[in-house]
Amino acid sequence: DYPKWPSLARESILNVPMDLRSVRLSIDGKVIDYGAEIDSVVITGMGGSGVVGDLLSDLCWFWDCRVPIIVSKNMRLPRRLSRPLVIAISYSGNTAETIMSANEALSRGYPVIGITTGGKLSAVLSGKGVPVVLIPKASAPRYGLPALLYPALIILERFGIASVTNELESGITGIENALKHVDDAVNLARQLVDSIPVVWVTESRRGVGIRFKNDLNENAKYYSVISVVPEGAHNDIAAVITKQGCLKHVAIMGPSDYEGLYEEVLIDVISSFGARPIIVKLEGKTPLETEIYGVTYLGIVTLALAELLGVEPVSTEPIDRLKNLLN
Ligand code: F6R
Repeated sequence: DYPKWPSLARESILNVPMDLRSVRLSIDGKVIDYGAEIDSVVITGMGGSGVVGDLLSDLCWFWDCRVPIIVSKNMRLPRRLSRPLVIAISYSGNTAETIMSANEALSRGYPVIGITTGGKLSAVLSGKGVPVVLIPKASAPRYGLPALLYPALIILERFGIASVTNELESGITGIENALKHVDDAVNLARQLVDSIPVVWVTESRRGVGIRFKNDLNENAKYYSVISVVPEGAHNDIAAVITKQGCLKHVAIMGPSDYEGLYEEVLIDVISSFGARPIIVKLEGKTPLETEIYGVTYLGIVTLALAELLGVEPVSTEPIDRLKNLLN
């Protein structure tokens, strides 16, 4: 799927209906007006779909986002919402938590937009006249990331939350650049064999770290922990003293800004305690390019690791079993 990501991203921009702000619905006697002022965006979804919320929330450390983005990975929504726009993302459309959250949003009278390949989410939302962005299928949800992320970016633009149009193409450049680094990715994967990766990442790249952890879990069937700094520099870092042989430190570094400088200090300190961190430099001229470069490159690392371990990367049986029980 990865080589298809550039075209998938481009096509996905076109999947978003033009006239979202003119939607007005009456559901259970409540009028839901998509043109009304909103004061937050809630992104609800799980796993490979929910990570879109993490990535957008990272980008809002760099962009002038007009309202806060709240990432909700739960079967219900936070109580204290006033006038949110809810984006419910489920690749399959059959994730119980996301369907419950979308239903709760509608029963509270909030505007909801679905992003999905179909499933129950599409049926429930379309049946009520709620806008749904239908996206094409991939081998598994995580392999369809651009089809989930790009429509969400366009929705932010259409609702005047962030100006993203100028950066969309750079995100695709980020994918293309990552695809040129497959050999480096295989090298990094080799260093991760027989380890539990500890992923160090700064707050504004938390989504890249989460996605890497998730891809390690799902593609390579590997445990991994993530430490988000500065916070992790006030607790996780203390554990570096104990030499737990199976740990391998991976530091994800953004372009050198003040967070990059912070991470250099962190690397100095953990190295002085004998850790030998592997440094992954994120490349990119814009925040979106850097973010997408990171998730694409690290995703390829996890696929290479799966291959080295002789693990089948696509299927995730324990997840499927749990989801079937919840449905
Ligand atoms: C990723 C993956 C899972 C799902 C998660 C939610 O490839 O398989 O992380 O993304 O179980 O399912 P969807 O995305 O269908 O809502």
